[in-house]
Amino acid sequence: MSLQELDLKTEHRNVKLETGLSENGRAGIVEHLNEILADHYLLMLKTHNYHWNVKGPLFKSMHDLTEAQYEDLFAAIDEIAERIRALGFDAPGSFKTYSQISKIEEAKSGISALEMAADLLSSHENLIRNMRDALAKADQESDEVTVDLMTERLSVHEKAAWMWRSFIEQ
Ligand SMILES: [Fe+2]
Repeated sequence: MSLQELDLKTEHRNVKLETGLSENGRAGIVEHLNEILADHYLLMLKTHNYHWNVKGPLFKSMHDLTEAQYEDLFAAIDEIAERIRALGFDAPGSFKTYSQISKIEEAKSGISALEMAADLLSSHENLIRNMRDALAKADQESDEVTVDLMTERLSVHEKAAWMWRSFIEQ
């Protein structure tokens, strides 16, 4: 039997969400979280790309640092997507959507280790600014769980930004 022949329609059940956050408030927070999820995914891919393709004397340190970071990003993606679900919305999960809603530019090819570090620094800083906006919105709506999540992620990315800045500075 082909997929088309199967009747996959099931009855839709909408269970009202009554956690004390308004629907409008939740929708506004999720708009920010969608962008942050997309930023995380695209930054994870770029970090992985540079992990594979870095060359030269900085290879070992760059290869190791990018590995720690893409592993952290992978875990965070799941947490952010599940927060979106807990707020009552579907989480976006396709590259097409991610590239439409995120401003993180894709990895460049043929660049030096220092240029990769500068590119990663700029992406982390971009993400940090977006997370500050998300945190402010969550705070305005008294969504402490999202405030907590954003605070935790901000500390990780500010640390990553510091590391990439130090990688470049002399
Ligand atoms: Fe690896």
